[in-house]
Amino acid sequence: MPSATPDSSSPRIVLGVSGGIAAYKSVELLRLLKDAGYFVSPVLTPDATRFVGAVTFSALASEPARTSLYGDPSTPIPHTYLGQNADLIVVAPATAHLIARYAHGLGDDLLLATLLATRAPVLLCPAMHTEMWEQPSVQENLATLRRRGVLVLEPDVGALAGGDVGSGRLPEPAAIFEFVERIVQGYRGALTGRKVLITAGGTREAIDPVRVISNRSSGRQGYALAETAYRMGADVTLISTVNLPLALDVVRGVKVVKVQSAHEMHEEVMSRTSESDVVIMAAAVADFTLKASKEKLKKDQGPPALDFEATVDIVTDLVAKRSTGQLIVGFAAETENVHANAREKLRRKGVDLLVVNDVSAPSVGFEHATNEVTLFDRFDNEQTISLRSKESISYEILDRVVSLLSQGAS
Ligand code: CTP
Repeated sequence: MPSATPDSSSPRIVLGVSGGIAAYKSVELLRLLKDAGYFVSPVLTPDATRFVGAVTFSALASEPARTSLYGDPSTPIPHTYLGQNADLIVVAPATAHLIARYAHGLGDDLLLATLLATRAPVLLCPAMHTEMWEQPSVQENLATLRRRGVLVLEPDVGALAGGDVGSGRLPEPAAIFEFVERIVQGYRGALTGRKVLITAGGTREAIDPVRVISNRSSGRQGYALAETAYRMGADVTLISTVNLPLALDVVRGVKVVKVQSAHEMHEEVMSRTSESDVVIMAAAVADFTLKASKEKLKKDQGPPALDFEATVDIVTDLVAKRSTGQLIVGFAAETENVHANAREKLRRKGVDLLVVNDVSAPSVGFEHATNEVTLFDRFDNEQTISLRSKESISYEILDRVVSLLSQGAS
């Protein structure tokens, strides 16, 4: 957190507000940011001023609110002044229209022009009715922006304007504020100088040249962790069974190594572990593999007898060969007795941190963009991170990694 009185070294935040009913909540967000010592410059789109007054923002912010590209007495080019000086741009609420314009590179008002004129990280906090939120056009525009490195805080499920209930509600200002703090801290390099090795995806065990046995892991949590770790300054290697796009601000920085089977993943992980400060085993590794047939099995030969054998437990091998001060994070997907199983697994595997998904819960874990996890660490701390984007979950996990690293070797 910056010092409470903003000065020239305070992180500078452009708070963009677009025209939705949730705009009133950004007044509270502004107060939180300002009280925490950020230098906050509000920019309202013309439609935002139909919902909230620029005067309110001017009274609370570090400098007067701006609403137009033209007529600013302090500078003829407010978009470049704002964009170049920002440490972070937060848009809350971000309407479907703003998201569409941003995705298409339009600069037809001060906020959009500022978003184009910056190299600072951008956090969008979408808010809209559920029907709009679920529109493929909106989701595709967001996917485009995410691929370009824009951070998106998923909306909450709850009461919407007009008495409706559904997803699309702007998260509470305190939750947005917390995420902002994480990003600013992250970009200040909480993991700078650390080498982080992450695995992602479900392994694929060959039955024959055509068929595989795999699992439902999408790899998204592992990719989100790799992106976030990179943004927090780490040197990241991602060992993955899947090909997902990495955000453009990250793609050149994260080394991706493709593998298929548990055996290949084991080899690649073990060849890199000694040089890693942190190893995060987010992959769903097969517990059993089988001897693959060289030829394709034919249907008329009847159901094949599959002869399984146990794979090496990579995490256990990592823990056995752990170097001094190295931090090892395991994942566990559970469907019952989640807490008892997690505690037992943390001890059995000897990891520093175990990230547990209850995959039987709706919108959690495999194939979802959102996740809810509980973190169990070696000091017996237990913390549930409620349902949110895999990106936000990554910040929580990596925050805990940073704090465990600061507490020294296990
Ligand atoms: N894991 C691993 N090597 C394996 C299997 C799992 O490194 N061969 C890792 C996973 O990447 C994960 C952790 O171990 O980080 C827990 O995986 P999980 O399948 O939940 O644990 P298991 O020991 O296989 O226990 P279970 O009986 O619940 O499957």
